[in-house]
Amino acid sequence: MDKLLIEGGAPLHGEAAISGAKNAALPLLCAALLTREPLTLTHVPRLNDVDTMLGLLEQMGVKVFRETGVSGRADESTVTLDASGLDNPVAPYERVKTMRAAILVLGPLAARAGEAKVSLPGGCAIGARPVDQHIKGLAAMGAEISVLHGYILARAPRQKDGSTRLSGARLFTDMVTVTGTENLMMAACLAAGETVIENAAREPEVVDLANCLIKMGAQISGAGSDVIRIRGVASMHGATHRIMPDRIETGTYLCAAAATGGSIRLTGAAPGSLDAVIDKLTESGCRITIESDAINLAAPQRLTSVSLRTSPYPAFPTDMQAQFMAINSVAEGTAVIRETIFENRFMHAVELIRLGADIKIDGNTAVVHGVAKLDGATVMATDLRASAGLVIAGLVAEGETVIERIYHLDRGYEHLEQKLGALGARVRRLR
Ligand code: UD1
Repeated sequence: MDKLLIEGGAPLHGEAAISGAKNAALPLLCAALLTREPLTLTHVPRLNDVDTMLGLLEQMGVKVFRETGVSGRADESTVTLDASGLDNPVAPYERVKTMRAAILVLGPLAARAGEAKVSLPGGCAIGARPVDQHIKGLAAMGAEISVLHGYILARAPRQKDGSTRLSGARLFTDMVTVTGTENLMMAACLAAGETVIENAAREPEVVDLANCLIKMGAQISGAGSDVIRIRGVASMHGATHRIMPDRIETGTYLCAAAATGGSIRLTGAAPGSLDAVIDKLTESGCRITIESDAINLAAPQRLTSVSLRTSPYPAFPTDMQAQFMAINSVAEGTAVIRETIFENRFMHAVELIRLGADIKIDGNTAVVHGVAKLDGATVMATDLRASAGLVIAGLVAEGETVIERIYHLDRGYEHLEQKLGALGARVRRLR
């Protein structure tokens, strides 16, 4: 298994281009299931999660064409999906267990194929993460749902006109769920009548998905607010859509530059999707200037601790919590970090402690006393964003840090070593 060797101490300087957003790409790939016509996505990040999703869609009968540079940008990857031959509406356990976002095929399959068999995801390192809200929503849309041998079986009801189609409904989710909102929004596109999703997730990735669905002929309003209305249409058509920039990748590089006392410029970013993160970095003493699609950060000599609480968008994202725990580890002062989205998302704390951080965990609260320096050691990546936190700590630590199990990073960060290397970091992959 690959490892990452980081020789710490080099401040990050220079410019890096932000990739397409993983969390927008995954639902957008699933949107192709909603139509017989081709859907072309540009700015597709080269990530293991994207490959896993493409493999899953191919297994269902979707034809996938990948190209590089067709959107006029030499390094950008374009994917065209043709789901006209969709004949196997099944997501097996092997795929869903490696990537929970595979659950995003459930809504589109039930909507277009009228049936779906999708494995339950099971637990993961950051908590139980059930999908009961996805199931509850589809059931409210008239789907016959059973859970058998670890699989969700969904079948759309027969309508008065003889068609097999979901029915529009008023949906309410018990908590704000991002993929739940996306699944139900996609399912509602082809349902008979109007669907209203209340308590909807407001994440920018939900808006990006809605924009693409609208290009495909869906009638959606309210995406980006907590009430989304979808008027079902009989069929949808092909479209071309550019995936939004990855706000978590952007935030991660900003934190890496902040922690190392560097100064960087990130291009092709979406600064408007990062208000909570930029706010905290400013509070920590960084100087940040924003242009329409670029962010510049200059770090102070030493950061000041910043306390935070994770919450659904537009509040502080749980996917940036580990990176801020890393920067607080070496900041001046004490920070209190509250994780309110996932019950077990402090796995990186014990690894940071191995590097010399002073962190106390009590339930969903972490108290981080900043120390003057971290020391390199061997640590283990436990999930995607935890790994990003460890990379930042490794960049700051004195001496060498080896991060094991970096397949987590390959799921979500495009060309990580190359981008960090170009910014002056001393990072090497050990195979
Ligand atoms: C998405 C993101 C992930 C991010 C998370 C929270 C993608 C592909 N992944 O994950 O990177 O960390 O949002 O911003 O976009 N819940 C239930 N029942 C459900 C659904 C969710 O109890 O049916 C709970 C979860 O266990 C969790 C909370 O609701 O505690 C929020 O989860 P959710 O927003 O659904 O996360 P994901 O969509 O899986």
